[in-house]
Order: sequence, then structure tokens, then C-alpha cells
Amino acid sequence: MFVSRYLCIINYVLKTTKNQRMKKTAVIYWPKKGNVENTAKKISALFDSGSIDVFTISEVKVEKLTEYDLLIFGGSTIGADNWEDTHTSKWYSFFESMKNLDLSGKTAAIYGLGDQILYPEHFVDGMAVIRDEFSGTGLRFVGAWPVEDYEHTDSKSIEGDYFIGLALDYDHQSELSEKRITKWVELLKSEF
Ligand SMILES: Cc1cc2nc3c(=O)[nH]c(=O)nc-3n(C[C@H](O)[C@H](O)[C@H](O)COP(=O)(O)O)c2cc1C
Repeated sequence: MFVSRYLCIINYVLKTTKNQRMKKTAVIYWPKKGNVENTAKKISALFDSGSIDVFTISEVKVEKLTEYDLLIFGGSTIGADNWEDTHTSKWYSFFESMKNLDLSGKTAAIYGLGDQILYPEHFVDGMAVIRDEFSGTGLRFVGAWPVEDYEHTDSKSIEGDYFIGLALDYDHQSELSEKRITKWVELLKSEF
């Protein structure tokens, strides 16, 4: 009787410890030194230190991605040509290197920087490129963001009434960005 009770308690403690293992998040972004990088830092500050790592796509080894539970990808849209040029785009070498990677069971989210006034028909198109490139990896995407309060006319990153990730415009809605980032991270934590 005493032994079985003792075993029950040990079992409970082990299970609880396992469930409470700190979930790990990685922010992976490109390019450096601009709005995308600033946003990566802001997102990171909203997680417990020790539970999040931040990498550029040129410094992270793709195998490393398998160590995380939540992967947040960040990029800006700099014209369709840049996305399609497989020789110069760092993103494409990154996508190429992670072919055949199995990320099933993991969660992912995207944030995208853009300019809705100068590029109203291609606002944050880049988010869709990232999502599509990851389509064979088994990742589950969360963090869809409502299209209201933007002035774009079209985007490849819209599905229904939502962007597939967080759309940010530091060129014209800088004052809204901070709040959007905070709210979006709360959303990620609730969906994760
Ligand atoms: C040459 C060029 C092309 C751009 N093309 C687009 C575009 O097609 N769609 C869009 O939403 N934003 C576009 N932008 C705006 C950038 O995505 C935006 O300024 C972003 O904040 C830049 O982020 P970064 O500072 O991290 O590079 C373009 C900017 C430049 C300079």
C-alpha cells in the first residue's frame, strides 16, 4: 500500500516536470540592421529570457531548428525580383538547405515588414513565400492577423480576412507597430 502510493507520487512528479519543460522559441530573420531586425529584438524581449534565441538565416544551422518548439520567421518584402533570384537571395539558400527537414509537431509563425502605401498591391507578399517554402516540413502555422486598419489593396499573404502572419509597416504605421507586436506575441502564446 505504502509502496504503491509512493510510486504514484513519483510518477506524478515526473509527469508534471515533463509537462512543464520550458518550451523553446527561435526567431529567425533576414535582413540585418533594419526594421526586421528591430522587430526580432522586440519579439524576443516579450519572452522569458532563456526560452528564446534569435538568429539571422545566415548564422543558424538548419538542423538547429529541430531543437525548438516554436519557430518565428521574420522578413521584409523587397520586390518580387529579390524573392525569385535564387542566386542572390539569402532566403533561397536557407530554404534550399532545409529541404527534407522534418519539423512535424512544431509550431511556426511569420512576421513581415512592408510598405502599404508605395506597394499597395504587394504589401508584405514575402510572408507567403516563406510559408509556401515550409509547406513540406510538417510545421503548423499560427498567428494569423486581421487585415483591418491597413490601407493596402492586395497581398499574396492574405487568406480570407487575415494576413497569414503579423504585417508591420514601419514606413507609415510606425506608431501602431509596438502595440501590434505585443498583441501578436500574446496571440502566439495562446495558440502555441
Ligand atoms: C526596393 C524596395 C522594394 C520594396 N518592395 C516592397 C514590396 O513589394 N512590398 C512591400 O510591402 N514593401 C516593399 N518595400 C518596403 C520594405 O519592405 C519596408 O520598408 C521594410 O520595412 C524594410 O525592412 P528592413 O528595414 O528590415 O529591410 C520595398 C522597399 C524597397 C527599398
